[in-house]
Amino acid sequence: MLVEILYNEEILLHYYKMGLLWSLPSTIEAGQFLMFRVSDGIDPFLRRPFGIYRTISIERGSKKLGGVEILYKVVGKGTGLMAGLRQGHKVDVLGPLGVGFSGFDGDGKLIMVAGGVGIVPFYLLAEGLANKDSRVQLLFGGRCKDDLPGLLDFENLGTEIKISTDNGELGVRGAVTELLKKEVSDDSTVYACGPKGMLKEVARIARERGVPCFVSLDKIMACGMGACLGCAVKVNGRKSRYTAQNLSPYKMVCKDGPVFDAEEIVWKEL
Ligand SMILES: Cc1cc2nc3c(=O)[nH]c(=O)nc-3n(C[C@H](O)[C@H](O)[C@H](O)COP(=O)(O)OP(=O)(O)OC[C@H]3O[C@@H](n4cnc5c(N)ncnc54)[C@H](O)[C@@H]3O)c2cc1C
Ligand code: FES
Repeated sequence: MLVEILYNEEILLHYYKMGLLWSLPSTIEAGQFLMFRVSDGIDPFLRRPFGIYRTISIERGSKKLGGVEILYKVVGKGTGLMAGLRQGHKVDVLGPLGVGFSGFDGDGKLIMVAGGVGIVPFYLLAEGLANKDSRVQLLFGGRCKDDLPGLLDFENLGTEIKISTDNGELGVRGAVTELLKKEVSDDSTVYACGPKGMLKEVARIARERGVPCFVSLDKIMACGMGACLGCAVKVNGRKSRYTAQNLSPYKMVCKDGPVFDAEEIVWKEL
């Protein structure tokens, strides 16, 4: 589907927010994503996956129109081209795709653990829970203070936030997983998105504490819809409910995820 770019602004060095004029169903799950064609030509050929950061609305004349905002980091060719796209340009997107975060029923404490651009799936969640009685905490880690995109948005929501940076520029010095060790309690549910090493450690801490943990995985994707099998992850043995046979030990990050129960993942093969 072709949608119009409303804005595309650098918010921190290498981090951008892009608004798209695109009315999506009101039932988007935090953690769902879209596939974005970065070029009108054939290079790069494949769409790139980006989480849906938040929904926006704009007024045009007398009309109120809906849109979505993505938050992305420039890491290579495709995202470099995206950074050069201007307001008014039309881009080809597919979505919303995948399965987002679930498993927190409002009881106990929800801890969202984000590393850098791994913050993306948590805005919709934090926004949805902002005026409820739920206890929600964001543990946000980055390499330095400029590696914490969207921090102000969460401050504006009134989310309880604890920060860590590798160089100690903001918050405590060290890994965000050290914050998790301090903050996790028996009634916590942990949601995490960020680099693979961080997710592995989050899953380990949650397992050790015996609390539920859900992680959003990041795999290079080609189709985004379960067709190419390029984003397979190995999962722990599954049996069919109907035939007692073993099911495939693989799931697709794009279709079955990107959010998985951390206990399902065979971490040493990720
Ligand atoms: C479900 C999902 C949601 C995502 N959401 C966001 C988001 O909200 N914001 C954001 O900035 N990024 C997000 N990503 C990562 C984003 O898709 C990649 O950074 C992007 O595709 C890189 O494209 P490129 O052409 O710039 O990089 P390339 O030129 O293709 O590669 C540059 C470098 O980035 C690495 N890379 C390429 N694709 C990925 C990938 N999918 N994950 C990790 N490393 C990759 C390559 O190995 C290489 O080292 C998401 C990925 C997934 C799977
Ligand atoms: S990206 Fe093609 S199956 Fe997941």
